[in-house]
Amino acid sequence: MFKIMMILIFTINLLHASELPTSHKTYQDSSKCMPCHIEKVTQWSDSWHSKSHYKSDEYLRKSIDYVSRKTRKSLSSVKVQCAVCHNPRIAVTSTDIHYEIMVAMELDEDSEVNKALDNDFLNEGINCLVCHNVDEIDSEASADIRGAHRLKWNKENLISGPFGDTHSPHHKTQKREFFNEKANDLCLTCHANDKTVNGLNFTNMQDELQKSDKMCVDCHMSERKLGVASNIAMNNGKPFQRMGRNHSFRGAHKEAMWKDALDLKLSSNKKQLSIKIENNNPHNIPSGFGARELLLEITYQSDTKILNTKSISLSQKYISKRDKRTIPHLAVKISKDNSIPAMGSKTLREPWPKEASSVVVSVSYRLVNDEVRELLDLKEDIWSKKMFITQESVNK
Ligand code: HEC
Ligand code: HEC
Ligand code: HEC
Ligand code: HEC
Ligand code: HEC
Repeated sequence: MFKIMMILIFTINLLHASELPTSHKTYQDSSKCMPCHIEKVTQWSDSWHSKSHYKSDEYLRKSIDYVSRKTRKSLSSVKVQCAVCHNPRIAVTSTDIHYEIMVAMELDEDSEVNKALDNDFLNEGINCLVCHNVDEIDSEASADIRGAHRLKWNKENLISGPFGDTHSPHHKTQKREFFNEKANDLCLTCHANDKTVNGLNFTNMQDELQKSDKMCVDCHMSERKLGVASNIAMNNGKPFQRMGRNHSFRGAHKEAMWKDALDLKLSSNKKQLSIKIENNNPHNIPSGFGARELLLEITYQSDTKILNTKSISLSQKYISKRDKRTIPHLAVKISKDNSIPAMGSKTLREPWPKEASSVVVSVSYRLVNDEVRELLDLKEDIWSKKMFITQESVNK
């Protein structure tokens, strides 16, 4: 009897939870777009948007496992919570205490939540439809409302894009400004206000953003270039030529993107070394996800040898409610922001040792600082890899 009651409560609860589209089977994964958009699919497959889910991103997977363990919430509930931005087309956007009870009683196997999570297209993370099936973005919504909660999807198999006057044999098209002048709105749907379980913000990209003649897409996709939107021959035996952008969304995980991302200016007044780091990008660096790190390595040398080296880590510490170190999502306290402000700079001063005649400073970036990497036992090389940004030297 109790079981039946639980199932009833559970079903009722899910009726209003499943409001997102799962029906577009012929459209939902990138393989369906491949025949006619080979270039876009190939570029996107190499991006971290295509890896932003439990299966392909070790850091995300271990963070989800850790949150579930520490908050004693079921793994599926945490997956659903994170899906708002990492898998926004999932059919269920929240779970509640009734679901937790179902899991504890091992009655969740056939549940809507489990069905929603056990769907292959979710293993594509932020895929084509996540961006191109959006009808409206509620950019006026309160800053807390992000990801799927900000989006209205197209009802039918209708694709939104920058043109709207294209003709495809496979889908209808419509023009949307968030693929044109308002493209930042699309990106900031998810790239802002990422929060801890206690509601502390550890990503403020939208607030930090400084006026710039460049949009996110100019730097993280490419400038608009002449090419083809679709490779199929629709224009007298040839594809139409159109202006478009690269879809590889290059960012923090690509070493080449870090080269010269910041400028370094060194000076000395014989007693002190002054290190000025300049950021000419419209958002702070690091910004984005928590526990990112800038690493400064200072080498003091005399005319003949290396005297000493020193490392300075610019990152943040995350403190749990038990006053222990933790991961960004579980923090109740966050240490001072050490990032380099958008369109601004930060200056550090270090003593100049008497014996030193010159100093070399190099700046690099790591995706995860030592503390969080240890806590989560991250094994893949990419998380500890030092990505070179720039290096300068100065004489006494
Ligand atoms: C059978 C071929 C075919 C398939 C499959 C297909 N498309 Fe297209 N698509 C086209 C053609 C043709 C155009 C128009 C090209 C042109 O006029 O330059 C187009 C245009 C577009 C545009 C630009 C729309 C605009 O007007 O701004 C987008 C975005 C797009 N497709 C996305 C997708 C996505 C996402 C998928 C997979 C879910 C997909 N397409 C599947 C053929 C296809
Ligand atoms: C539906 C939510 C969502 C939208 C919309 C979105 N992103 Fe992302 N983006 C993510 C998530 C989640 C990740 C993290 C992927 C990971 O590392 O697992 C990410 C990662 C990235 C990265 C980092 C890639 C790397 O190699 O480090 C860049 C750059 C990026 N997005 C740019 C953009 C741009 C530009 C837009 C707008 C055109 C955009 N994103 C729109 C959710 C989104
Ligand atoms: C994170 C959001 C995002 C994702 C994911 C995404 N696109 Fe786009 N797409 C854009 C934006 C923004 C533009 C407009 C670029 C511009 O300014 O021309 C665009 C434009 C296009 C166009 C028109 C040609 C062009 O380059 O402007 C096509 C076709 C297209 N996308 C297909 C795809 C396909 C296929 C996929 C999946 C492999 C995909 N997109 C994934 C954001 C996205
Ligand atoms: C003028 C170029 C420029 C513009 C505009 C820009 N970025 Fe960046 N962004 C960079 C550079 C350079 C980096 C550092 C190298 C890298 O990760 O790509 C960076 C880093 C990032 C990172 C990784 C940050 C981290 O803390 O590790 C994310 C996420 C990101 N950008 C998203 C965005 C979004 C979203 C927008 C629009 C709101 C945007 N960027 C606008 C140049 C730009
Ligand atoms: C408000 C939208 C949003 C929500 C909700 C969200 N994320 Fe993210 N997450 C992002 C974006 C955007 C990025 C990419 C930022 C960057 O690359 O710097 C990201 C990146 C990450 C990364 C870094 C991945 C990498 O490859 O470096 C981890 C780990 C992560 N998220 C964990 C989680 C967990 C765990 C949850 C749920 C408890 C969650 N996220 C919920 C937006 C979100």
